[in-house]
Amino acid sequence: MNALSGQARLAGVFGWPIGHSRSPRLHGFWLAEHGIDGAYLPFAVKPENLAGALRALPLLGLRGVNLTLPHKEAALALVDRVTPEARRIGAVNTILVGEGGELEGSNTDGYGFIEHLRASQPRWRPAAGPAVLVGAGGAARAIAVALLDAGVTELRIVNRSRPRALALAAALDARAQAVNWSDRVGALAGAMLLVNSTSLGMTGQPALDLDLTRLPAAAVVDDIVYVPLETPLLAAARARGNPVVDGIGMLLHQARPGFTAWFGIAPAVTPALRDWVLAGP
Ligand SMILES: NC(=O)c1ccc[n+]([C@@H]2O[C@H](COP(=O)([O-])OP(=O)(O)OC[C@H]3O[C@@H](n4cnc5c(N)ncnc54)[C@H](OP(=O)(O)O)[C@@H]3O)[C@@H](O)[C@H]2O)c1
Repeated sequence: MNALSGQARLAGVFGWPIGHSRSPRLHGFWLAEHGIDGAYLPFAVKPENLAGALRALPLLGLRGVNLTLPHKEAALALVDRVTPEARRIGAVNTILVGEGGELEGSNTDGYGFIEHLRASQPRWRPAAGPAVLVGAGGAARAIAVALLDAGVTELRIVNRSRPRALALAAALDARAQAVNWSDRVGALAGAMLLVNSTSLGMTGQPALDLDLTRLPAAAVVDDIVYVPLETPLLAAARARGNPVVDGIGMLLHQARPGFTAWFGIAPAVTPALRDWVLAGP
């Protein structure tokens, strides 16, 4: 049993529903690994209660929280300060409570994506060739910002609903362009990175329907879906020899900045952590 003292450091995650979140298991691993006097708790917070729950953080002595669905966008308007990166992404996933009780919102999803991509494929270079991003939802926004910040010279955004792809491209810079869903196979020509940020390929969802014939053999294929870990897209990419990146590492890496700020130790992403989180419900 984990015995907490009266000085225990407290953090957690707000979501609605919250039962599916792997974050308590993830942070719990690091707390135990480092013998920290602290706890990371799941909070079921309804959307209409988000403002009140955030304002209660300093009152209860919590050091901060992660935010998951459906709170990430709403929190932008509810915190006292937003980092420039979170502002550009349009969503907050990490809240830090300052000394005076003020709330700072940041977004670590793009950081988690890039860190995992670089750790998995150290030879990937942002400027090696165009990147194709399939999807234009919340995760895609964070990934698009992270890829452009990393130095990608051309970003092709392919989304089923064209207005969403156009809106995302317009919110970025001239390196980003929207591509029609019907042109997605051709968009792979010359690309050196392909990212699936849609929910396609998840257990219970159809596979992403994308013929990889035009994709160069050296292009990295990255799928952020992690249930299952080996999606049909990754299996097809692996079969034709493309280097692949799975989705679980993004989740693990995005948690590091929050843990470091709340609990005072920079944790590592290790195979043992990965196995622990994957073995969870
Ligand atoms: N690995 C990680 O750490 C991590 C982090 C965040 C999210 N994710 C995963 O990423 C996925 C997307 O999350 P999100 O928050 O970005 O969701 P979201 O905002 O709801 O966006 C969903 C995206 O999937 C597309 N899509 C859904 N069904 C489709 C279909 N039948 N055909 C074509 N496109 C379809 C949507 O296209 P339309 O715009 O046309 O609807 C949209 O681009 C989820 O599976 C989530 O679990 C993983």
